[in-house]
Amino acid sequence: STRLPPSPTPVVDVHTHVYFPRYAAELRARSSAPRILTREGADGKPEERLLILDGEPGSGRPVGPQYWDREEKLEFMKRHHIHISFVSSANPWLDFLSAERASTLAQALNSDLEEYCASSPEVDGFPGLRSLYGFGLLPLVPHVPISSVIQTIEHIKTLPHVSGVIMGTKGVGNGLDDEALEPVWKAIESAGLVVFIHPHYGVDGQAFGTKPNGHVLPLALGFPFETTIAITRLILAGVLDRHPNLRLLLAHSGGALPQLSSRIASCIAHDPVVAKRLKHDARYYLGKLYFDAVAYGSEELAFVSETIARAESYSAAGGSYNANAGSTRMLFGTDHPFFPPLEASQRWQSVEDNLRAIRDVRSWNESAQADVLGLNALRLFSLKY
Ligand code: URA
Ligand code: ZN
Repeated sequence: STRLPPSPTPVVDVHTHVYFPRYAAELRARSSAPRILTREGADGKPEERLLILDGEPGSGRPVGPQYWDREEKLEFMKRHHIHISFVSSANPWLDFLSAERASTLAQALNSDLEEYCASSPEVDGFPGLRSLYGFGLLPLVPHVPISSVIQTIEHIKTLPHVSGVIMGTKGVGNGLDDEALEPVWKAIESAGLVVFIHPHYGVDGQAFGTKPNGHVLPLALGFPFETTIAITRLILAGVLDRHPNLRLLLAHSGGALPQLSSRIASCIAHDPVVAKRLKHDARYYLGKLYFDAVAYGSEELAFVSETIARAESYSAAGGSYNANAGSTRMLFGTDHPFFPPLEASQRWQSVEDNLRAIRDVRSWNESAQADVLGLNALRLFSLKY
């Protein structure tokens, strides 16, 4: 396929991961998953492998400097004409640590992140903007004092290049619909931080059978279903009713949430336990969320865009909607350094697919494309250029 020309407007990647050296060291020191282990590679030389998924098939996945070396991130960005990246720690964050270790490491890793971003090169042609910004970490683990989580949010507020936090779906052990998180949502909302919600656990691995399908089922299905369940629970718990200014960015275009949103709404409306609980029809909440554009296909992006736009018709004002309008809440991402090309290649197919998908959405004009490629991110994170 032909190469895409570079975009004339800023390209901002909101879904791109790192393991800082301090975090990789933590994983290397472990003898059970999540861990980084060393084994003998095909060439007889030692190679490191990443074993992090529940019931991970085989010996995990390759891991190397693409996860921790900033030069590799910048080189990748240059190669794909990405001007700015909002980096986040890759899963499973601090989830597996004790409350004390998670709190200590959160503080250190958030400082690492600020340093990584603050000293990154300025962006050519966009004076005042750095090439790297980031999502910090919270010590969201069982038994953590909520005051430690709030302290971490206070620390992040002092870090000028950290504009949000990434979190999984477990909260402090009972998911994102846990009342214990109420002060956390409140603090995040008033700090104006963006929450990037990202899967890790998938769904019960038994559902995937026993055939050797590599990582396909957990990554292609487990991840997005996990996100779908987590956000549906969060909506059902009234979190978005109580925190209308909370800005949640959903990984992988919200998983199956857009596809299932009318079914969710109907199940709610027909269930005596929840029928009167929420302020709005469930479809309304899609218009309060942000969705990355990591869906790999233009039809899927068009569909997500339309379900976001439709949310307007479930607001108090109601009425019609412009199908193009959903594009203002969708943001380009790559998931780097995951999904590298299997055969050595300069350009990554996974990235090209996501870029092409944005350009091929038939209902998006050039201005909608520019929004999704980068302008939405600059607005969401209040970056002026
Ligand atoms: N695999 C992971 O473990 N995490 C990602 O973010 C993407 C793929
Ligand atoms: Zn990811």
